[in-house]
Amino acid sequence: MPSLGVIGGSGLYEMEGLRLVGKEEVRTPYGEPSGPYTIAEAQGRQMVFLPRHGQEHSIPPHKVNYRANVWGMRELGVERIVGVNAVGGLGIEPGTLVLPEQVIDLTLGGRAGTFYDGPDVVHIDFTEPFCPELREFLAQVAEAQGLRIHLGGTYVCTQGPRLESGAEIQAFRRLGAHLVGMTAMPEAALARELQLCYVSVCVVTNWAAGIKKKRLSTTEVLQMMRQRSRDIQGLVLGLLAHLPGKRGCGCQEALRDARL
Ligand code: HPA
Repeated sequence: MPSLGVIGGSGLYEMEGLRLVGKEEVRTPYGEPSGPYTIAEAQGRQMVFLPRHGQEHSIPPHKVNYRANVWGMRELGVERIVGVNAVGGLGIEPGTLVLPEQVIDLTLGGRAGTFYDGPDVVHIDFTEPFCPELREFLAQVAEAQGLRIHLGGTYVCTQGPRLESGAEIQAFRRLGAHLVGMTAMPEAALARELQLCYVSVCVVTNWAAGIKKKRLSTTEVLQMMRQRSRDIQGLVLGLLAHLPGKRGCGCQEALRDARL
């Protein structure tokens, strides 16, 4: 059973260094995932990969079926998910890899963000939105590989698809944000509702709007993602080799005391 899943962001549509085992189409009660899941093998272990925006990048952030994507991962036996996210940096410079610790969700009800629309009513604890154990494993792997990665920071998730105004970025800064992106939410919360571990690995692709005089472009976002994709793949392969079979975190018990 593959226990690790990777949801690739902009610029990460496939993974190298893996032996292809097969492709799986998964049907879910929530509709179609972003595409078929790739099952691959490395280090004698299986993992699953799904590009969030589709193989041809045809699904914008506000149209991604986050519920189906995360549900499909669980159907395939995945217990831990690494979400890769391109982000703008508010104080962290482009090119930096980041393992954020916190999230502020500003998608404001614009996305289907729960598996519990009633009659089952569930309020999961989200004090720590990203699995602390999985973050720690990734930090250890990065250190062992000599890969610089910024630990911590707050990710603000906007609805998109437009980029932000200069005043919005200044407001986010006052809220305590370090990164701005469009895709970590509701993905992280949905994973928690299914008692899966979830961690976001961010690539700062650009300075957030208005921080430098320059206008933002999607070209710089994709270029930076391409530049860093080898490091991300190395990190994931290292993680696959390093992961213990058993989870030692609270994610697997997220539904305990969460139902009304
Ligand atoms: N804002 C929002 N999402 C992003 C950005 C940004 O500046 N860069 C990459 N994804």
